[in-house]
Amino acid sequence: MAELKVNTKKFKLNNGVEIPAVGLGTWRSEPEDAYKATKLALENDYHHIDTASAYGNEEGVGKAISESKVPRENIFVTTKLWNTDHNKVEEALDESLKKLKLDYVDLYLIHWPVNTDSEDIKDPSQYEDYIETWKSLQKIYKEGKKVKAIGVSNFTIKKLDKLLNAEGVDVVPVINQIEAHPLLTQPELVKYLTSKDIYITAYSPLGSNDSPLFKNETVLEIAKKNKVEPAQVLISWAVQRNSIVIPKSVHEERIKSNIETFTLSDEDFKALNEINEKDGPKRTNDPGFNNYDD
Ligand SMILES: NC(=O)c1ccc[n+]([C@@H]2O[C@H](COP(=O)([O-])OP(=O)(O)OC[C@H]3O[C@@H](n4cnc5c(N)ncnc54)[C@H](OP(=O)(O)O)[C@@H]3O)[C@@H](O)[C@H]2O)c1
Repeated sequence: MAELKVNTKKFKLNNGVEIPAVGLGTWRSEPEDAYKATKLALENDYHHIDTASAYGNEEGVGKAISESKVPRENIFVTTKLWNTDHNKVEEALDESLKKLKLDYVDLYLIHWPVNTDSEDIKDPSQYEDYIETWKSLQKIYKEGKKVKAIGVSNFTIKKLDKLLNAEGVDVVPVINQIEAHPLLTQPELVKYLTSKDIYITAYSPLGSNDSPLFKNETVLEIAKKNKVEPAQVLISWAVQRNSIVIPKSVHEERIKSNIETFTLSDEDFKALNEINEKDGPKRTNDPGFNNYDD
């Protein structure tokens, strides 16, 4: 039987800020559920919560943080700028901070490389105006008050390259938050990000709702062999791969077990790495408005 332990690992980001490897995801958690889940998480050794203005639950998350006995400086809070707010970054951040009842967030991300007034996008490439958005984040970061670190989400190699080479861009994102699990390992993107000292936060690490990973033979066999939950296999794999990982749950038992990880044997780690080629790649989250090709 594998030895499960509460995961206390932290990664040091390229600006020196430390981030706990395992955090709580909150997408599709209603505000009251997000409140309860965040509260349970903070009572059960989590020090990292991931939310976004688009999730509509920052108030619930903030309430749990404000009531928690865990000191603010020991909680890593991520929130994200929504697509329709690219032209008013500071206003959107202030609104998030107000809802979260916080003076600062630890990490502020551009949620998607999509800058638009409308959710109805026909040609995503017309809305990829994110350089100016990044410069607004950069300015707020350099002022040193409202954010400890800034990053991006759902960026491809080409988009990051364009961003890093743009005039006036001199802060490298600390993180690219992307969908990552054994059915979507994205080896080229991972290699690129590693070369730029940009960490990955693996979102939908369990394969999101109705996950094909919970039916995947390799995952189930490894879980059975090690006498652990399939989710624990996936979360342990993500950390062992040097990524930050943010499984979402609103259930107490799952919240508790998702932060307990173990070290996969070389053989099991390799088998999980190979699922992508055998059964994938499979993206579980495609909102339809993003351009993953460029
Ligand atoms: N940046 C982005 O664009 C982006 C996109 C997607 C997600 N995210 C972030 O990443 C987080 C995680 O991704 P996700 O919410 O898509 O999916 P996920 O964490 O991969 O999976 C969540 C699903 O798995 C279930 N689950 C949780 N723990 C489980 C366990 N131990 N055993 C069995 N089922 C379990 C959850 O149900 P219950 O809640 O009912 O337990 C839920 O249905 C999000 O919540 C969000 O914070 C970011």
